[in-house]
Amino acid sequence: MKTKWTAERIRALKGNGKVVCLTAYDYTTARHLDAAGVHMALVGDSLANTMLGYTTTLPVTMEQMLDHTAAVARGTSNAMVVADMPFMSYQVSTKQALANAGRFLKEAGADGVKIEGGAFRARMISRIVENGIPVLGHVGLTPQSIRQFGGYKVQGRKLSDAERLLADALALEAVGVFAIVIECVPHAVGETITQAVQVPTIGIGAGPRCDGQVLVSHDVLGLSGLAVPRFVKRYADLGDQMETAFKAYKSDVEEGVFPSSEHGY
Ligand code: KIV
Repeated sequence: MKTKWTAERIRALKGNGKVVCLTAYDYTTARHLDAAGVHMALVGDSLANTMLGYTTTLPVTMEQMLDHTAAVARGTSNAMVVADMPFMSYQVSTKQALANAGRFLKEAGADGVKIEGGAFRARMISRIVENGIPVLGHVGLTPQSIRQFGGYKVQGRKLSDAERLLADALALEAVGVFAIVIECVPHAVGETITQAVQVPTIGIGAGPRCDGQVLVSHDVLGLSGLAVPRFVKRYADLGDQMETAFKAYKSDVEEGVFPSSEHGY
């Protein structure tokens, strides 16, 4: 029997099974992800890159995230839908963060939100959790801080940085996040954090010892072009297939092969 994945059920997977998560930005992808039994559909702010063509995640707006989240929610019956809070939707004040987090549940049908950042976000995240909104934490390479990091770089290579990441994860756990995404850190750091916290860790470029994995669905499907991070595994070449289909259609139209009598009235 299929049942809806909730924050509580995801948290209960700690030590009992892997958390399987992919990004989804639209209704159609969400339907297929849901049919495949993926536990969590993350409406990542990476939609700025994959859907809107920006080079960073910084420009994406609340309204864009709400629209895409609502589409993903319409396409899922079982997967938990988590919306990424976009840059500057939670940084200005706790009051604004809470109001914006609430919009994802109220207006878009999300089941929870994801927020980038560690210990320094803990107070704000605790207010959101206290108000009944499940929060997925995110530490390591947090792309909204790309200007501060100076590029998409592996985080936690130095011992002091790794210790800070561990402290961040513990602070997030203490304020009640249901799981924590760890992005782009050495495998040993992913493993250490995973062993230290009681909530599931969901790795992306953080090694096999995390409690679950997430990838950007465009990368998995071969829709992202050639420049994908080293931690990506490609499971299909839909980009190539799309181009082949479009070329075949173009040639059929140009040669008058399409439409034929069977494609009309
Ligand atoms: O926006 C995103 O895609 C993410 C990743 C963790 C997959 O935040």
